Amino acid sequence: MKQVILTGDRPTGKLHLGHYVGSLKNRVKLQNSGEYDVYVFIADLQALTDNARNPEKIKNSLIEVALDYLSVGLDPEKTTIFVQSQIPELTELTVHYLNLVTLARLKRNPTIKTEIKERGFGEAVPVGFLTYPISQAADITAFNANLVPVGEDQLPLIEQCKEIVRTFNAIYGEVLTEPEAMLADNKVCMRLPGIDGKSKMSKSLGNCIYLSDDKETVKNKVMRMYTDPNHIKVEDPGCVEDNAVFTYLDAFALEEHFKKYLPEYKNLEELKDHYRRGGLGDVKVKKFLINVLEDILEPIRERRKYYEEHLDLVYDMLSLGSIKARKVAQETLKKVRGAIGLNYFD
Ligand code: TRP
Repeated sequence: MKQVILTGDRPTGKLHLGHYVGSLKNRVKLQNSGEYDVYVFIADLQALTDNARNPEKIKNSLIEVALDYLSVGLDPEKTTIFVQSQIPELTELTVHYLNLVTLARLKRNPTIKTEIKERGFGEAVPVGFLTYPISQAADITAFNANLVPVGEDQLPLIEQCKEIVRTFNAIYGEVLTEPEAMLADNKVCMRLPGIDGKSKMSKSLGNCIYLSDDKETVKNKVMRMYTDPNHIKVEDPGCVEDNAVFTYLDAFALEEHFKKYLPEYKNLEELKDHYRRGGLGDVKVKKFLINVLEDILEPIRERRKYYEEHLDLVYDMLSLGSIKARKVAQETLKKVRGAIGLNYFD
């Protein structure tokens, strides 16, 4: 039996370069390795837990995220791509798990605590939002996922899922599979800064480069990017640490990019050395970064354009993926009901 990998995204906007280096790229690699059974899904129910009054936003983002998936190379022939709300079994699993978690435990979850603060909820937090870690455990266990590729901020959610699995199995017998988190393998990829160079790339901060940005937009954003504020004249020595342009090059530039666009340097180390010594201007480095990003974004944009013109294909893909995923979730729910003893009429 292949190991099962499952991960998802809340549809609250388009995906950006942070998502790409932090997870999308790796998902495509895992998918193409052929070694895993891969599920990727759009967590629309989870997105509604703090957007109940704004369902249009979730609906519109759903198709954007699906387009982003296909354009980075997720392939519905290899990966089961589905929509959370189309699998009602997930909701029933959530109901069974709700009984296994205390209010105190939910309130202690560091990720939820931060999110409640960020959203200014206080005691007015929607119950659905407070309990989304339980619904997330349903997402994971329904497909017997062994590995869950996530960002660091999701570790407390995986921990909560493991606890639910252990509690369930201790009470009702070994039914559920305990998952492990799978983190990105390097620092830059785990936390790509926004073009302001300060915090993580995030929609609410308006510092993103989106996978769907056109060439001109990417160029303008890179030209505006934060560098070393003390590197004023070309001759000045510069600092590459906390310099977003170099952080991006760390994440994206390969030796082949140097051969192609900047042959006077062998690799990023040589470019950094020159910047540190002085005599290398920001504009030259930024132009190189634009070329590197275009190499990555151009094929993504091409595929996106194709699917934007064939939205019916995208909806069909989601619908078929959801039907396929649902069968697996039905099996798990059947076992769960049986283990609890709710199979009265079998
Ligand atoms: N909470 C995840 C996020 O905000 C999305 C998500 C929902 C998820 N269910 C999941 C991720 C199950 C991994 C596994 O990005």
